[in-house]
Amino acid sequence: MGGDTMDTVEQLRAELLAAAAAAADLKALDDVRVAALGKKGRITGLMKGLGQMDPDARKAAGQALNVLKEEVAAALDARKNALDAVALDARLSEERVDVTLPARPESLGAIHPISQTIDEVIAIFGEMGFTVAEGPDIEDDWYNFTSLNIPREHPARQEHDTFYLPNETVGPDGVPGRVVLRTHTSPVQIRTMLSNKPPVRIIVPGRTYRCDYDATHSPMFHQVEGLMIDEKTHMGHLKGALIDFCRAFFEVDDLPVRFRPSYFPFTEPSAEVDIGCTREGGQFRIGHGDDWLEILGCGMVNPKVLENCGIDPAKYQGYAFGMGVERLAMLKYGIPDLRTFFESDLRWLRHYGFSSLDVPAMVGGLSI
Ligand code: PHE
Repeated sequence: MGGDTMDTVEQLRAELLAAAAAAADLKALDDVRVAALGKKGRITGLMKGLGQMDPDARKAAGQALNVLKEEVAAALDARKNALDAVALDARLSEERVDVTLPARPESLGAIHPISQTIDEVIAIFGEMGFTVAEGPDIEDDWYNFTSLNIPREHPARQEHDTFYLPNETVGPDGVPGRVVLRTHTSPVQIRTMLSNKPPVRIIVPGRTYRCDYDATHSPMFHQVEGLMIDEKTHMGHLKGALIDFCRAFFEVDDLPVRFRPSYFPFTEPSAEVDIGCTREGGQFRIGHGDDWLEILGCGMVNPKVLENCGIDPAKYQGYAFGMGVERLAMLKYGIPDLRTFFESDLRWLRHYGFSSLDVPAMVGGLSI
């Protein structure tokens, strides 16, 4: 039986090694393992038969079977590694990422028209030498009103539809007053003049608040304030700067601009600025025409305001102006309803938004 066993071992080796090498997947390979080495496997069966052999034959057959068992186990391992490697390669090629593709083109964001408009205004005045200043949204009565020559009983206080907060502060004039959400960016004029010596040339973009809500008013809106203080500053400087601004902002070189007398407590004289347009039905077009659109308020800084900030009006004069950012954006970009600015409707944002890569600048264009 010894010789027979040896023949059987040889035959089995050839058969099992071939079966292991040919296994097409892990399941087939496991079937080969069970058929050879499992409880009822063929090698296991031969091992069990060793007991019936005489000692010499048993020893030779036992050694041969052990070698066979190891060889088959090694062959199964090798095939398993090969199959694993093939599976890994397949998975890697399936999950491959093309790193040369642009990053998530489908989720590009857009710059909100408010930010775009503020950036455009800053770009224009930046070119004229103005720098950006900021102040708090929550203001003391003194900064928002009194220092700007709007006394307590002044009707302008009612016009501003102020949001009052519950707490009171005592102003630099020693009089207590309610804390407010600033109704305009003009208090930043005061803060700047108190902390900086003239000359002053600032532009102040920021949020402002008034208790009002309809298609042209929102309780929170944005203004850009401008302030220029120097010796010998006069109305001609104010007109020149604002005419240049209007033409640059609306990108119409010969845009008609007119100054219409008006009243603000903190400027004297004061004016409102209109730009030319044509109107047909509800539609208008900015440029030459027989109609006008009001776009900002301005004037020479009232000497009383300079005095409130410790600046000598005999030596220094200045001009100031203020404009509503939403209104500028609506006029320039044809946006019909103010309320839509703050609804965060993605379709609106995609439609009216601007590319973050097109930074507004006088060189290269404000809006593209
Ligand atoms: N503060 C004014 C307003 O909110 C605008 C303005 C600013 C007018 C500066 C003149 C000078 O209506």
